[in-house]
Amino acid sequence: MNMDNEGMFEGLSIQDAPHIITIPPGPKSVEILNYQAAHESSALTYSKNLPMAIDRGRGATLVDVDGNVYIDLFSGAGVMALGYSHPTVLKAAHNQIDKVTHTLDIPSETRENMVATLSRILPKELTRLFFGGPTGSDAVEQAIKLARYNTKRNGIIAFEGGYHGMTGISLAATSDRAHREGVGELSPGVQFIPYPYRYRNPFGCPEDKVDEQAANTLERVLDDSHSGYQHPAAVILEAVQGEGGTIIPTPDFLQRVREITKKYGVLLICDEIQCGLGRTGKMFAFQYGGIVPDIMTISKALGGVGFPISAIAYREELNTWPTGKSIGTFRGNMVAYAAGAAGLNWMLDNNIPERAAKLGAKAMNKLNGICTKHLTVGNVRGIGMMLAIEMVTDKESRIPASELTKKVRKYAHQRGVLVEVGGHYSNVIRLLPSLVIPEKLLMNGIDIIDGVITDLENGKLK
Ligand SMILES: Cc1ncc(COP(=O)(O)O)c(C=O)c1O
Repeated sequence: MNMDNEGMFEGLSIQDAPHIITIPPGPKSVEILNYQAAHESSALTYSKNLPMAIDRGRGATLVDVDGNVYIDLFSGAGVMALGYSHPTVLKAAHNQIDKVTHTLDIPSETRENMVATLSRILPKELTRLFFGGPTGSDAVEQAIKLARYNTKRNGIIAFEGGYHGMTGISLAATSDRAHREGVGELSPGVQFIPYPYRYRNPFGCPEDKVDEQAANTLERVLDDSHSGYQHPAAVILEAVQGEGGTIIPTPDFLQRVREITKKYGVLLICDEIQCGLGRTGKMFAFQYGGIVPDIMTISKALGGVGFPISAIAYREELNTWPTGKSIGTFRGNMVAYAAGAAGLNWMLDNNIPERAAKLGAKAMNKLNGICTKHLTVGNVRGIGMMLAIEMVTDKESRIPASELTKKVRKYAHQRGVLVEVGGHYSNVIRLLPSLVIPEKLLMNGIDIIDGVITDLENGKLK
């Protein structure tokens, strides 16, 4: 890695991280957490899993109100790809705030600059953009609505382990039972098939055949008139599954899904909300398969430094919605456009996806060592800066060790490193570091996780 450049990345973060003054949550944090618990919803999660109150962020580092400095290996669920307070992005946001912040979908130079910036990175086949609401879930809603409108079909095929959001259709396409239960009748029409999760092989075949079997399953349910599957409007796919536990399919699987959907006249939606915008080492994860979907969703890092914005991009022939067919108050946000475009251009100018690929490969070396060394680490996975450690009771049985995983998150936090937990059994430590994290901090963060696992295994930590 170019050391000059590494100096630039180091300049974006607080260098002497982590620095723990008082085991979190410290006294000031406790006061704010108590206020929050008394007044906000019981549904809050992160404030329970990573108890602290935040003061400020820089690059890949966060500071809490008690003065603790953390290496953030989760970057706000992947939103802060360019880190907290990126100077170029902040400057663009500040300039825009003084001009105008909300214009519905009436154009401006700022908005069209975002469109032009996105056309620098989108596959050329995806000629149309729609900004339908601020969240990723909104984009998924729009993508599925557009697919249904164009095909005049209702069905959607989604994958086990898939996560697409928390609202109507996006929730129906999300597989996690805990999210689906007790919310009334889900939007009808979504059916699931297995994703190629090799470590927890759903087919009982040799592990190197799992991806092929998963693609065969898709082909079978579409081909067999007795499968119980109507031909759907679309297949919705994460080219790397995020919340499902960072599951990375083979390029062949992606190619087969594309071929099969084409063969049966089914649209392919790629949900790039988590795996897109450079995170996996390519601008979009589906590019690993050399494929182009019919519709794709983007959000998270799109707003530069966490301004909420999402979009779908789609092929010209799907551009059939009449005026007003899909409306909403927040159709993009001017500050998010300005910040997002500045961020994407900076990302391109500095080869950030390439950096993510290289740094991710170095991190994987370290994670492989951790897997070999620890009885309770069953599997490690990674592509670019989407990394995971799957915890088990022992390597032989592969029984998921969910409680242990939560303890890793808790003690890593106490030692100054922020990670999240995901996966089918809440037994996967998920790392989504900022793509600008200095190499030193990333490696140090992983060493700290390694130390926590060691101390949990040898009983030093309970
Ligand atoms: C792949 C994917 N799709 C959709 C969503 C939903 O996005 P949001 O939480 O902004 O609604 C997420 C969120 O994590 C996601 O990872």
